[in-house]
Amino acid sequence: MDIKDKIVMITGGASGLGLATAKDLASRGARTVLLDLNEENLESASKEIDGEVLTFKTNVTEEESVKNAIDQTVEKLGGIHGLVNCAGIGSASKTVSKNGAHPLDYFKLVVEINLIGTFNVLRLAAEAMGKNTPEKDNECGVIINTASVAAFDGQVGQVAYSASKGGVAAMTLPIARDLARMGIRINTIAPGIFDTPMMAMASDEIRKPLIEMTQFPKRLGYPEEFAKLVAQIIENPFLNGETIRLDGAIRMQPK
Ligand SMILES: NC(=O)c1ccc[n+]([C@@H]2O[C@H](COP(=O)([O-])OP(=O)(O)OC[C@H]3O[C@@H](n4cnc5c(N)ncnc54)[C@H](O)[C@@H]3O)[C@@H](O)[C@H]2O)c1
Repeated sequence: MDIKDKIVMITGGASGLGLATAKDLASRGARTVLLDLNEENLESASKEIDGEVLTFKTNVTEEESVKNAIDQTVEKLGGIHGLVNCAGIGSASKTVSKNGAHPLDYFKLVVEINLIGTFNVLRLAAEAMGKNTPEKDNECGVIINTASVAAFDGQVGQVAYSASKGGVAAMTLPIARDLARMGIRINTIAPGIFDTPMMAMASDEIRKPLIEMTQFPKRLGYPEEFAKLVAQIIENPFLNGETIRLDGAIRMQPK
């Protein structure tokens, strides 16, 4: 799908990987729609992006909140061609630690935002994409989800995060199969360690070994590198149903 003039919705678009993606796609001529919980960051993000930008304070876990953003986007811009799901949170808690068993509510929260929130937005966006006029190859839409290398090699304390991201990776193929008849593709990016506000919160003690485990280049990924892959996925019509690691060949060790 050509990016120019397409309407692309980006969750978690007010920060990090989502914001870099919005900037990149706007520079390629897309009209961007940012969904995020953080109103203040949405406001500043919209000023950093070229061209027409819509913003919605949205909680990806809430059906009504997402429906409202999608309905208003369709009403104001005429449809949705692309969805990039970047909203998510990290987590740190062991299955059993010296404080006792992993708090169940915390496990549920991480799965709710990272996995259920991702599915909530994509199911409603796909419904809207189904109403688009088909283009070349009968293509109507493209969905990109964000998992993590922790979906495959989660570290000590990442059980909730890994479970949520494993779910995002695992649902990619069945969704591609479900949406094939509607001309909608879906792929998932599994990033390694990227230099975003989420990672900025991590101490040097956590960052250093992760950089060490990254084979080459020996650094954190730049959010712009994530955005470049998003653009390639949108533009390449034969890329479907796949989870792509973007990680400098990192294979995370237990700690
Ligand atoms: N940065 C990394 O190293 C890295 C690595 C692997 C995967 N990821 C994944 O990439 C995605 C983006 O991460 P980032 O590093 O840009 O983080 P970030 O914290 O900079 O951005 C995440 C955004 O999601 C928003 N958000 C959180 N919960 C939300 C909710 N319920 N509804 C709507 N918005 C919500 C936050 O407000 C924030 O703006 C996340 O899913 C993260 O798990 C990041």
